[in-house]
Amino acid sequence: MSKIDIEKYFKPNLQDARKRNKTDVHELQFELQEKHQNIGYLKTYQIHTYGCQGNEADSEIMAGILEKMGFTKAETEDESDVIILNTCAIRENAENRIWGELGRLKAYKRRNPNLILGLAGCMAQEEYVIERVLKTYQHVDLVFGTHNIYKLPEYIETSMFSKERVIEVYSQEGDIVENLPKVRNHTYKAWVNIMFGCDEFCTYCIVPYTRGKERSRHKDEIFKEVIELKEQGYKEITLLGQNVNAYGKDFKDMDYTFGDLLSDLDQIGIERIRFTTSHPHDLDLKTMHAMRDGKHIMPFFHLPVQSGSNRVLKKMNRHYTKESYLDKLNELKENVPGISVTTDIIVGFPGETEEDFLETMDLVEKADFEGAYTFVFSKREGTPAASFEDLTPEDEKKDRLYRLNEVINAGYLRGNQRFLNQTVSVLVDGVSKHDENILAGYTAHNKLVNFKGDKHLIGSIVSVKITEAKTWFLLGEAV
Ligand code: 5AD
Ligand code: SF4
Repeated sequence: MSKIDIEKYFKPNLQDARKRNKTDVHELQFELQEKHQNIGYLKTYQIHTYGCQGNEADSEIMAGILEKMGFTKAETEDESDVIILNTCAIRENAENRIWGELGRLKAYKRRNPNLILGLAGCMAQEEYVIERVLKTYQHVDLVFGTHNIYKLPEYIETSMFSKERVIEVYSQEGDIVENLPKVRNHTYKAWVNIMFGCDEFCTYCIVPYTRGKERSRHKDEIFKEVIELKEQGYKEITLLGQNVNAYGKDFKDMDYTFGDLLSDLDQIGIERIRFTTSHPHDLDLKTMHAMRDGKHIMPFFHLPVQSGSNRVLKKMNRHYTKESYLDKLNELKENVPGISVTTDIIVGFPGETEEDFLETMDLVEKADFEGAYTFVFSKREGTPAASFEDLTPEDEKKDRLYRLNEVINAGYLRGNQRFLNQTVSVLVDGVSKHDENILAGYTAHNKLVNFKGDKHLIGSIVSVKITEAKTWFLLGEAV
């Protein structure tokens, strides 16, 4: 094997990624250079997306750029000229899946040496990933990170014509790029980025390193996008950010925060407004009032708590206690009666004792969550928690997860049961996975509903009377 000149690549560095500089964030307008406009003529692409909604939105941008370059979407991997894996680094098992995929795709590369195989997203921002790709995944042609998606045309050009490997990952965020083309996955619901990055630095989490410092998009750009979506007939938008409640905190020249944004977007009249994800510490009364007064803001809140033990919350660097979380939750429920609240919980954080875990169970009882994503702590190299002493056996952690899920599942069922015999509005998403004649969609409270109906209703909002409540979904009849 020839010696790899690793110096010629732009590689990430977690120490640099941790830094938060005070330099102003500027806006940059994307423009596709003429020389890139036909590179993809008669060529095809596929993008495989892993992880959160942020990645789904990024993949829509990658697809938008590729289609502007003339590429079309390939039906199969076999006929693809470009395959990009847009990856997730949040937990080890997410990464393992992607390493497996990269291994599997080696066969396609052998059959079609002209195939460009790319690795993008959060994993690309990790030092060790780049080292491993350089050493053992020689068939990966292109690696770029979360901060330079807009440079995809250049990378494809180099990869295609010079046949050189392209590895370019920036440790730190740059400017906010506007005017990016998008191929949206749906025609009636859309993601809208409102901010990028995260400054919370929860000690277990890799995101502040892979996504950079918090940067809010200018409100005018957000309005422009939402108004356009409304004109195109979109029914629902989901505002995206790692911590949407911190929106606007980085503005130096205006006092404009998430509550203001929600109230103003509500005026546009798009039917449904959702947002994800939130940090309890930044959730303020203005936001609750915007939800209370808005006509289009859905009565649903995903409010990750992570743990119910004050000792663990402190070690996680979460800036709240069990009691203050519950107070805020009650305030939210008072302001938005009937709101459905879900959460994220990590069990087996380093040093979590049985007593700590029981505090979490107690909080779950008191909070009356209607759903949760629950995880076993996963060690992320480079984060503070990776070096915390962790003596709890894996079996014990799994047992905690099991016990927690029992209570969470009861919450899902209770949350669904409260809609029995009621008529709810369902935005129809598609047909059920199991039966072509059954439609599936979501209520304002984000409950999944199945009911009999014709395919032409996909993308419209239908009134449905709920006849049965199961743990994971509701059954009903169109009225
Ligand atoms: N281990 C387990 N779960 C994690 N999450 C983030 N980092 C980790 C980790 N290292 C969970 C948190 C977060 C959600 C998106 O993923 O609960 O809210
Ligand atoms: Fe990770 Fe915490 Fe930021 Fe969420 S708020 S992305 S858990 S660091």
